[in-house]
Amino acid sequence: MVVCHCNVVSDREIRAEILTGALDADDVAARCDAGTRCGGCRPVIDALLAEAGVSIRRAFAAA
Ligand code: FES
Repeated sequence: MVVCHCNVVSDREIRAEILTGALDADDVAARCDAGTRCGGCRPVIDALLAEAGVSIRRAFAAA
């Protein structure tokens, strides 16, 4: 499913970036361009990050 229509980035691509270390929506944007234009897909990117438990990983990364 396409999540970022501006840059034609799928949920699969975003999940792959999260699995390989993206820690927030800015990180996802830097890696695959999702969310770099209108920003309308950012809530979905945030939801994918939350679904993957990134907030927990982020807490460990900051420690
Ligand atoms: S839909 Fe992703 S930046 Fe516009």
